[in-house]
Amino acid sequence: MSLGSVHGLDAGYLRSLAALARRVEPLWISDHLCWTGVHGRHLHDLLPLPYTDEALDVVVRNIGQAQDALGRRLVIENVSSYVEFADSIRTEAQFVREVCERADCLLLLDLNNVHVSAVNHGFEALDYLREMPAHRVRQFHLAGHSDHGDHLVDTHDHPVADPVWALYREACARFGPIATMIERDDRIPPLAELVSELDVARRIASDVLGGPGRGAVPWAA
Ligand SMILES: [Fe+2]
Repeated sequence: MSLGSVHGLDAGYLRSLAALARRVEPLWISDHLCWTGVHGRHLHDLLPLPYTDEALDVVVRNIGQAQDALGRRLVIENVSSYVEFADSIRTEAQFVREVCERADCLLLLDLNNVHVSAVNHGFEALDYLREMPAHRVRQFHLAGHSDHGDHLVDTHDHPVADPVWALYREACARFGPIATMIERDDRIPPLAELVSELDVARRIASDVLGGPGRGAVPWAA
């Protein structure tokens, strides 16, 4: 949807999405907190926003328009990034929290994206988690990334990294039983390897949340 676009949302696209949602009746509809283009041209990248008052107003207005069209609260997902805007007056975590509160939307916390951005921009991933409004979190994402020495790239083509598992443990303790998805977009390994990653997620969730049957029921996609 390009929720961060200053040109607003594409009304035709939104109508199609609403029709699809009526047909499919998904549990959630999520999109990334970013922008992907202007002037009707779209890039296949999730571009970061400046964390300014102006950007906050734009995003809140666009999410409101989407929620009105869809007749439900949207679930927004944090993206990873590689550059920051000099104009930002908030941290990313503060911006995400304010968007959630002002737009009254829900949150999909991509823990790999938090870790990638934390390393690239030099903030503490745990501080980011502390800023998140717990009652709005509906899903966790886990994924792998590529390590380029002085920066990480969110490639979704590796197993989940150890620091992201550690962050997942913290997130389970902080947010409770939250549905969890492992994302893998490229270099897909044999199914058994993906299932064993899912077992790690289940083990961590049940460790923290008190055994199978209670707590999160992670699935892989
Ligand atoms: Fe994600």
